[in-house]
Amino acid sequence: MTQIQAAVSDEAKSIEEMLTASGYSKTAIAYYINKPHMGHISDADIASNMTGTCGDTMGITIRMNDGIIEDAKYQVMGCAGAISAAMAVVDLIKGKDLDYARSIDDGTVFKVLQEIPVKKHHCIQLAVKTLHKALDAHNLKQSA
Ligand code: FES
Repeated sequence: MTQIQAAVSDEAKSIEEMLTASGYSKTAIAYYINKPHMGHISDADIASNMTGTCGDTMGITIRMNDGIIEDAKYQVMGCAGAISAAMAVVDLIKGKDLDYARSIDDGTVFKVLQEIPVKKHHCIQLAVKTLHKALDAHNLKQSA
């Protein structure tokens, strides 16, 4: 292991310890550290941005294929709760249809995350509202 790799893994370990002490589950922490669905899909079919009351911002881009969500990514300028919730939403909706995506609510995401601090529950709402806003915009476009 190089010095830089060792420094990165030490940093990840100390972030993990901090988040565990704050009340995040191992699953939520892994989403935050690995950020598996962070990014932007340039040829997205569906997209939206949203700013929460806390001032944090996120955007979602979704690519469809034959009525199924082929890929989705979030860009998040926000806290660990927001990032882990957004990543969990993508794992929930990938490979599913838009009706299923619409049925996702805060409770569904919380079940995946297992545990995040109570004062961070609104971060889950932001991830879900961003998804729903994108679906609303898509519905409007379809019916226009
Ligand atoms: Fe703003 Fe978490 S504190 S989304």
